[in-house]
Amino acid sequence: MEKAFNKIVSDRYSCRSYSQEPVTREQILAVLECARLAPSACNKQPWKYVVIDESQLLEQVYAAYDRPWIKEAPAAIIVLGNRSEAWHRKHDGYDATDIDVAITTEHICLAATSMGLGTCWVCNFNPETVCSALNIPDEWEPLVIIPIGKPAEGISIPEKKRKTVEELIQWGKF
Ligand SMILES: Cc1cc2nc3c(=O)[nH]c(=O)nc-3n(C[C@H](O)[C@H](O)[C@H](O)COP(=O)(O)O)c2cc1C
Repeated sequence: MEKAFNKIVSDRYSCRSYSQEPVTREQILAVLECARLAPSACNKQPWKYVVIDESQLLEQVYAAYDRPWIKEAPAAIIVLGNRSEAWHRKHDGYDATDIDVAITTEHICLAATSMGLGTCWVCNFNPETVCSALNIPDEWEPLVIIPIGKPAEGISIPEKKRKTVEELIQWGKF
């Protein structure tokens, strides 16, 4: 199923209720192909994706985020960032890791939406729990957990609550 881009953007939402239907590795690979093509500062691509689709490991990862809904998701992608691989601005040392990881992560969410899959950005997790469950080496930081799966039956896309264009856009000087 393919959708026009603006439809994909408006259909993406934070899905917090999943069906138990498994996500195939083919689907995950298709999503990660879009993630891999994301831009990054100086094309450093300072990211890795850890895919979890096995119930015992999922349980250990989900223990890092104490919300019952996440346990419904049949798979998760943990997006890792590496600050020593990322571009740093020479003027002030600004580190682009978080921006780069955010872009590739949103590609995951939009690609999943285009395939009829639900996702949710989760950053409010305990990173130590994730690192020890997945043996993540010191130089790699888990920055986002993306649960992924088919939205539960009967879930509809919630209305977007967003600031207005007038509130957000400044034409010319601030
Ligand atoms: C950086 C980031 C971190 C987030 N962390 C969490 C989280 O830990 N738990 C959660 O339920 N939602 C999390 N969200 C989802 C936001 O709450 C959600 O995107 C926002 O309320 C807008 O709703 P929508 O995604 O349905 O459009 C996060 C979103 C972003 C971008």
